[in-house]
Amino acid sequence: MSEDMLDRLLEKLDLVQKVRLLSGATTWRTAGERTIGLREMVTSDGPAGVRGEAWDERLTSALLPSASAIGALWDEDLTEELGGLLASEAVRKGVDVVLAPTLNLHRTPLGGRHFECFSEDPVLTGRTGAALIRGIQAAGVAATAKHYVANDSETGRMHVDVRASERVLREVYLAPFEAAVEAGVWLVMAGYNGVNGATMTASPLLAEPLKGDWGFDGVVVSDWGALRSATEPALAALDLAMPGPQGPWEASLVQAVKDGHVPEAAVDEKVRRLLRLARRVGALESDRPPRTPALGPDGTRSLLRRTVAAASVLLTNRGVLPLDALSLPRVAVIGVHAACPRVQGGGSAGVFPSRVVTPLEGIRARLDGLAEVVHVSGPGPGIPPAPLGTGWCSDPRSGEPGVLVRLLDGAGRELHTEHRLSGAQLEPPVTPAARTVEISALLRPPSTGAWTFAVAGFGRMSLTLDGRTILDGEFPCTTDDPAVVHVNPPRHTVRATVDTTEPVLLTARRELVPGAGRATIVAAAPPEPDAAAALAAAVRAARDADAVIVVVGTTEHTETEGHDRGDLSLGGHQDALVRAVAAANRNTIAVVNSGGPVELPWRDEVGAVLLTWFPGQEAGTGLADILFGDAEPGGRLPTTWAAALADAPVTHAHPVDGRLAYTEGVHIGHRAWLLTGRRPAYWFGHGLGYTTWEYGTVHVPAEVTEGSPFTVRVQVRNTGDRPGREVVQVYLARPHSAVERPVRWFAGYAAVHAEPGAWAVAAVQVPAHALRHWSEAEKAWRTEPGTYQIMVGRSADDLAWRGVLPLRGRTG
Ligand code: BGC
Repeated sequence: MSEDMLDRLLEKLDLVQKVRLLSGATTWRTAGERTIGLREMVTSDGPAGVRGEAWDERLTSALLPSASAIGALWDEDLTEELGGLLASEAVRKGVDVVLAPTLNLHRTPLGGRHFECFSEDPVLTGRTGAALIRGIQAAGVAATAKHYVANDSETGRMHVDVRASERVLREVYLAPFEAAVEAGVWLVMAGYNGVNGATMTASPLLAEPLKGDWGFDGVVVSDWGALRSATEPALAALDLAMPGPQGPWEASLVQAVKDGHVPEAAVDEKVRRLLRLARRVGALESDRPPRTPALGPDGTRSLLRRTVAAASVLLTNRGVLPLDALSLPRVAVIGVHAACPRVQGGGSAGVFPSRVVTPLEGIRARLDGLAEVVHVSGPGPGIPPAPLGTGWCSDPRSGEPGVLVRLLDGAGRELHTEHRLSGAQLEPPVTPAARTVEISALLRPPSTGAWTFAVAGFGRMSLTLDGRTILDGEFPCTTDDPAVVHVNPPRHTVRATVDTTEPVLLTARRELVPGAGRATIVAAAPPEPDAAAALAAAVRAARDADAVIVVVGTTEHTETEGHDRGDLSLGGHQDALVRAVAAANRNTIAVVNSGGPVELPWRDEVGAVLLTWFPGQEAGTGLADILFGDAEPGGRLPTTWAAALADAPVTHAHPVDGRLAYTEGVHIGHRAWLLTGRRPAYWFGHGLGYTTWEYGTVHVPAEVTEGSPFTVRVQVRNTGDRPGREVVQVYLARPHSAVERPVRWFAGYAAVHAEPGAWAVAAVQVPAHALRHWSEAEKAWRTEPGTYQIMVGRSADDLAWRGVLPLRGRTG
């Protein structure tokens, strides 16, 4: 359908019909319009997977590794395949618009949504995001570049006003969005935050550079609930207000047009964009293509398994990895995370995985018949109680594993009952007369002692254990952050003694009142083992083993949307655990299961440190492939990791008087480390494989011309005895620049594969953009002629080759 035909459809609509299309019909659907054959379009969160329209644990999804892991791939082909998987999942779930990728940056290691973003670097983020977008959209499903822009931390995210110069925005924070628009993204999501005094849904940045300079022809959608008024966002080029119904536009945009505050042409332009989106995803009945998911369960699993290995970053290896499965009679797998890994971060991106292979299961399967595998949990990692599940809970009515959910009216009469698999009920099927939601389960306690129980939600809540009230209180809602209200409300914990291993009845009740959200979560944790005894057991297991794999990590609560982190420690006794087992066995491999940076104070005491991020559903299969050498760990750090939080150059994420000043300017990530002269634990770009490489001749053009891209050719030889993949990186510098520049900046990369002893040539394409800077004075991009430095190597710090690059001005 041509653009002209979209205009014909538009002409058929009156003002009321047009305005109705600009707000959500439901939480996840846009409005449809029968008279022009437009159906509702379904949106769903990404980027970890596609949940679909409901928060229902029975409707499972393929769970990808976290975005930080995808940022570690440095592999656009594989990223595109993952985009294809998201599209396939979207098709399976009837979703038209995937709310991914997140293109904000790892500005500080404390960012609560760090796991959901790719990298600290605008170029790597842009390239990775563009690849994911291409992969999603190739299947006729829309991608959404979010959150436009400078939504890089969570503290006060609904109202924070980020202060950054136009140069910093253009060169750093807007750059990945520019790459997304170049890749043809169909939606951009305006964030909750403000930039330089304007809230993003009403920001001039929506018009310029997004729709003007860059020529974005898609839909600008608000983040969920970000629209606070009607007129300013309508004038500022926002197109679609989500969710609905009853958003500010529905209430007053028609009147604002009638009163002459908003020209009808502005409304027409928004509807035109929405119809263009509808055409692209096939929501205009006449041209809807038939859709079948491209990937079945087997294809999904093997892609995700491959991705775990390709994204895991081998930070240190003292000759311990890969392990030889045939010469290890006994392997100790240690740590709570080995059996209960964190496979995803917290917040709106969460999905219910169709399956999870734990590290322990993966290792056991790989060593089946070859070696004895012993698992010891060690002392608790300080994980808060987990929502009731199917483990040791059963529905008190049916006896089936899981919980019973009941809705009661004001007189306590039962209106609805349902058997569910989880104590986290984010959207119980509320009926108008319902006043109370109740979740109950028969708990079969695996051990007696002081249990920890928790309820989460807002309003009046209580918790009873065999009829005895152990918690009862009023918990008013004090935030307007939807991710906190609807997904991750604060937990209220209570300790209670359970002195029997006979079933006990746990019942949580929450009163349903307007404005208190729908989430009700009931959680429990058995008594923690005595830390000293658990540590001693872990040390014994380590001493008796031929190799030790100790898995440590963060929790869903430390890395989650809605909150920034307070520190970078692993928590609990995890550091002591790694130290103790490493002292007992030199063959100790520490596997780090976190979405973002953590302090690894024992990193020089272990045989190897392997970072697997939040690895998604194939955590264990992918890990076993790496550990036993069936696959090479392929990841490179997309973000510099500090040895200690105190060393990190950019940590301020707390607004002062509502403002968050990006005082570091263009110096974020490795650029900031280089500027301060401090040394991190691991640099941007770092990561080891299982072979070694020699760098040979580097060919750089004798001269480049302003505005022209160029190619750097680097010969590398695989000097080890296994095939491998090397990621060759190029950095630029301009020491005597007339403008302030980073000490050096990342310009591009290329990966090559080579057999043992073989040479390969990495051709790194450097875009013309890499040399330009934004001139505040001229409000335009400029490129300084003269000599640049160019560096080639394996990380922001390991740059064995350095040369010069003369640049000729277009007129010079
Ligand atoms: C998040 C978005 C998400 C939206 C819908 C918001 O709270 O910031 O990333 O897409 O909710 O779940």
